[in-house]
Amino acid sequence: MERFIGKSVIVTGAGSGFGESIAKRFASEGANVVVADIHAANGEAVANAIEAQGGTGFFHHTDVSISDAVQSLVETTVERFGTLDVLVNNAGFSHLAGPVWELSEADFDRVFATNTKGVWLGVKFAVPVMREGGGGVIVNTGSIGAIAPRPGVTVYNSTKGAVMTMTRGLAVELARYNIRVNAVNPVAADTAFMRGALGTDELPDANREALIKGIPLRRLTEPKDVAAAVTFLCSEDAEFLTGVCLPVDGGRSIS
Ligand SMILES: NC(=O)c1ccc[n+]([C@@H]2O[C@H](COP(=O)([O-])OP(=O)(O)OC[C@H]3O[C@@H](n4cnc5c(N)ncnc54)[C@H](O)[C@@H]3O)[C@@H](O)[C@H]2O)c1
Repeated sequence: MERFIGKSVIVTGAGSGFGESIAKRFASEGANVVVADIHAANGEAVANAIEAQGGTGFFHHTDVSISDAVQSLVETTVERFGTLDVLVNNAGFSHLAGPVWELSEADFDRVFATNTKGVWLGVKFAVPVMREGGGGVIVNTGSIGAIAPRPGVTVYNSTKGAVMTMTRGLAVELARYNIRVNAVNPVAADTAFMRGALGTDELPDANREALIKGIPLRRLTEPKDVAAAVTFLCSEDAEFLTGVCLPVDGGRSIS
């Protein structure tokens, strides 16, 4: 399948986990991909892997919570690829899971700055370019925790609740410019993000088993699941879908 030949695509948080898989999937389907991440070594490795596979991509060092950085990301993309067709706002961070009253103010600010303000900044700088180009597609990475929250990550889940509301509001606001806006809501995955939230180097077996128990299809999310959902939402097959927050969760949200 080559659904994105010549399309210009930005994926934030593309240095690892879901974003890496999303970026590689777009590149494998013919897109020109910008790998944006705060982690330079990981981002460069993903861009190099894309080029080594015969794809087109480059790394742009970006902190999605900083306005100048996101502006530079969009400007550089247009300089290199001539336009911007797709923006995937995927970069995310979680504070350590724990009682809400123990969360530091600095972590509260960082998680909202990355997960929520980061999405808005992406939209702020991408939309004028997409409008000029006649349209575009935006996909935001939410979380099933936004609609079925569990204890310990309440503030993180709240950032994703805001992402869902923004996704639906933007869908209505931007439809007149031929810009579709959707989200994916994954359930737990064994990525650096999850290990960071738990404060461990590896996902402990007990946590893995407890997580899987709550998922009817009895496994965690794999990055490829998210890449498949995101690329579908950006494809022509989804031309009439906007404002959708698609669970990628093996049924967790209905169990
Ligand atoms: N892993 C899960 O269980 C899970 C479940 C639901 C949703 N999510 C969401 O999926 C997205 C991707 O997470 P992942 O699981 O692939 O984790 P990950 O840690 O593998 O990837 C997140 C990437 O975002 C980058 N990043 C963090 N802060 C950034 C910033 N300020 N600017 C630019 N890049 C930044 C990191 O360097 C990393 O490469 C996040 O938005 C996360 O909230 C994760």
